Amino acid sequence: MRPQSELRIFLFHFCDWLLSRRNLVIAIDGPAASGKSTTARLVAEKLGYLHVDTGAMYRAVTLKVLRTGLSPADAPGIGRLLETTHVALRREGGTIRVILDGEDVTDGIRDPAVTRAVSTVSRHRVVRDAMVREQRAMGADGGIVLEGRDIGTVVFPDADVKFFMTAGIEARARRRRDELRARGDAPDVARLAEEIRERDRQDSTREESPLKKAEDAIEIDTSEMTIDEQVRVVVDRVKGELEGSGG
Ligand code: CDP
Ligand code: CDP
Repeated sequence: MRPQSELRIFLFHFCDWLLSRRNLVIAIDGPAASGKSTTARLVAEKLGYLHVDTGAMYRAVTLKVLRTGLSPADAPGIGRLLETTHVALRREGGTIRVILDGEDVTDGIRDPAVTRAVSTVSRHRVVRDAMVREQRAMGADGGIVLEGRDIGTVVFPDADVKFFMTAGIEARARRRRDELRARGDAPDVARLAEEIRERDRQDSTREESPLKKAEDAIEIDTSEMTIDEQVRVVVDRVKGELEGSGG
């Protein structure tokens, strides 16, 4: 190997090491299936940071609401339910397990019934207050990548670096179809596209913490990107921001 390329590789790893020591808060927001979770997980892995999938937390609460037989629109009822609800995220190998009152619900929260009800449950202030409190506590010491809808705008408006991921509706519906196929379902892309559109509409028009790009967020359109490219863009931009701020 030529000394020059050895130096380049050394600098590359040194930069990663530096980032892993900086305990930054990185926020990734965006609509459904834009690539937030996949990117956040891999970026966190690369930097040795904690990854918090805030959507999984809202999904876990929604699963409990459905199991209890409450209406997703019943804010006071859900408020009372939350007093005895505990949602935790546990890292296990390369994946994150979602624990609801001690039970592993990682698969259950992806059920289509949960997906259909989650936007209604998460528009309630009482739900958001409880989730945001948890998320801020998890991120208090930094060294964290959080992804969701309101991370850069509400949960951590002072996050060190913010991203807003987007992708065309066709790409997003295809991605969801592939995921569901891998689970053994045979969904219709047009219907999936309609469901995604409707969830985005509800999430971005609600009164409390609507889905929207923070003014200082870096927008990334992932429609034509591979996952590796998405991760590289995010890590490079984080490095760029650090250099820019003299970090
Ligand atoms: O993975 P997918 O894009 O399907 O959604 P998710 O990230 O699992 O989030 C599910 C739902 O939770 C969203 O559609 C929002 O209604 C809600 N959510 C939210 O309100 N705020 C967040 N920070 C994250 C998710
Ligand atoms: O978290 P969010 O709902 O924004 O998206 P995701 O769960 O990270 O990604 C949705 C699906 O698209 C996953 O199955 C990814 O593997 C896939 N995907 C992607 O995120 N980016 C690409 N460039 C291609 C596929």
